[in-house]
Amino acid sequence: MNKPFSHLLTIALVAATSIFMVNCKNETPPTEAAETPAPAAIAIAKTSFGTTADGQAVDKFTLKNKQGMQVDVITYGGIITTWTAPDKAGNYANVVLGYDNLAQYEKATPYFGALIGRYGNRIAKGKFTLDGQTYQLETNDGPNTLHGGVKGFDKVVWTASEQPVDNGSALKLTYVSKDGEGGYPGTLTSTVVYHLTDDNALEVSYEATTDKKTVVNLTQHSYFNLSGDFTKPILDHELTIDADKFIPVDVTLIPTGELKPVEKTPFDFRQAKTIGKDIEQKDDQLTKGKGYDHCWVLNGQGFRKVSTAYHAGTGRLLEVSTDEPGIQFYCGNFLDGTLPMPGGGTYAHRTGFCLETQHYPDSPNQSSFPTTTLAPGEKYETKTTFKFSAK
Ligand code: BGC
Repeated sequence: MNKPFSHLLTIALVAATSIFMVNCKNETPPTEAAETPAPAAIAIAKTSFGTTADGQAVDKFTLKNKQGMQVDVITYGGIITTWTAPDKAGNYANVVLGYDNLAQYEKATPYFGALIGRYGNRIAKGKFTLDGQTYQLETNDGPNTLHGGVKGFDKVVWTASEQPVDNGSALKLTYVSKDGEGGYPGTLTSTVVYHLTDDNALEVSYEATTDKKTVVNLTQHSYFNLSGDFTKPILDHELTIDADKFIPVDVTLIPTGELKPVEKTPFDFRQAKTIGKDIEQKDDQLTKGKGYDHCWVLNGQGFRKVSTAYHAGTGRLLEVSTDEPGIQFYCGNFLDGTLPMPGGGTYAHRTGFCLETQHYPDSPNQSSFPTTTLAPGEKYETKTTFKFSAK
């Protein structure tokens, strides 16, 4: 972003919020920070985002980096409500779908921008067995449990604190899920750190511990539309997914257990192609998913770049890196023009896509998949980075 615009944003941010600097490395008072040419550290401003129907206060934290990227996170669901990214002319615009008030998030959301837990994706019939004991979860997606259940981590209020990082501070969210909550065993303490770096990357670091053997699979559910114009479908975005295989599903979107080569199927994103290129092909898996709504088996291991999305019109490029074995690519097939868009209108079919890094769906019931079991004394740790640039 060009400097004058960056200054304007800084000034607007400072003026618009009754500012509460959770952290600013150089401890410059907010009014002086507005006059400083370029902020030296990540500033996190806190404002109120209202109160839930059951009376819990929700805060919004605004992370902003040196370049002018802005990420707004609310404590309800750890939801990213706004995320700006530069186009090739250096103009920043919001690239994630969301709402502008809490009541809308509480009323009906397809997990816009949310943290997902305890178990991202589906567990067949909401049932699994650990050490001979069978657990029955709440089901909320036909016969299955999706994204944690009726009240997943996207619908709880997280506790926020700051975490010092090299370029200022990051936002740390903590949620303690009680033993038996949603049907899951064990008290699960989860933390998610959102760290906005000065090179326009958002690092999302997850940790969890339990006091009883359980299952866990956390992820982030932002819907991206890199055009910044949410009236436009995302079919023109060019996508890559570094995966030789994907996971076919049954009609309820539960894995069949097979890992199928993408070669000669519409699921081959090893070379960049637009999301729309093959989406209307006659294909049994596309029919079942109503489009792309599948988990890809990522190549390689360890922290690596796994996916890119590019919007030629604006030049915006998103690069996703993770240490997870899978990524659910979902292209907004269930958006149907009923959910309200801030500023008027509604979110239409396929106007956002998600790249949800995770372990495979239904792993607790699929012994050949990498395990999602967490035992007392172990630490669940995983990291995903979303990096933006323009070309
Ligand atoms: C799932 C979709 C689901 C969507 C909810 C995605 O993660 O894969 O099947 O409909 O979340 O909006």
